[in-house]
Amino acid sequence: MCSLNEDSFVFSPSEIESLDWSVQSDWKDKLESLSLKIRPLQIDDYDRGFTKLLGQLTHVGDVTKEEFEERFKLMRETKLVRVVVIEDSNNNQIAGTATLLCEPKFIHQCSWIGHVQDVCVDEAYRGKGLGKIIVNCLKLLAQQVGAYKVDLNCSDAKIGFYSALGFKKEDGQANYMTCRYKN
Ligand SMILES: CC(C)(COP(=O)(O)OP(=O)(O)OC[C@H]1O[C@@H](n2cnc3c(N)ncnc32)[C@H](O)[C@@H]1OP(=O)(O)O)[C@@H](O)C(=O)NCCC(=O)NCCS
Repeated sequence: MCSLNEDSFVFSPSEIESLDWSVQSDWKDKLESLSLKIRPLQIDDYDRGFTKLLGQLTHVGDVTKEEFEERFKLMRETKLVRVVVIEDSNNNQIAGTATLLCEPKFIHQCSWIGHVQDVCVDEAYRGKGLGKIIVNCLKLLAQQVGAYKVDLNCSDAKIGFYSALGFKKEDGQANYMTCRYKN
């Protein structure tokens, strides 16, 4: 078995270990009771079904292991991307994931904004509280980085899920706009 070092992770596991979870004190018991663990994405998570899981969220395409590893390394080098996963120790598969993009700003005294992206829990694990744990984890990571706010975009059907986690539509600001390209 190969040993893991810090470079195996997309960001340091110590960032998750040092979070103050008083907002959701039952998170550890909940994960342990299901033999699950929460951690940063690892470079070998391709083999644990990571990209397949993302396919439950949106179109992923035919991403090869080499492409995954290249993208992983780029994300790690930027130091701005926190891809969090929940792994099932029973089958070594990824049961859930979410990404926090930390955007450095000049405004607000050179502060940060956290963008919540790509939240997905495997169908077989939904309704067990994993989504709540992983989004709370991103919120805490953003706070730890020093962000003054965390934002996200979601479908109407997910407003209830995120509202329960403290997100709200701001008056006059809830207009998500895009300009899409063909690729
Ligand atoms: C949305 C998603 C991440 C929720 O994950 P989950 O693990 O099933 O959610 P949880 O079990 O942690 O639910 C937490 C709470 O939110 C509630 N909830 C879950 N989905 C909800 C929804 N669509 N609308 C309203 N409330 C919802 C749960 O009832 C639970 O409430 P409780 O704390 O009072 O019991 C999951 O359904 C998913 O991956 N969907 C497909 C991908 C997707 O749409 N991602 C979001 C992109 S913005």
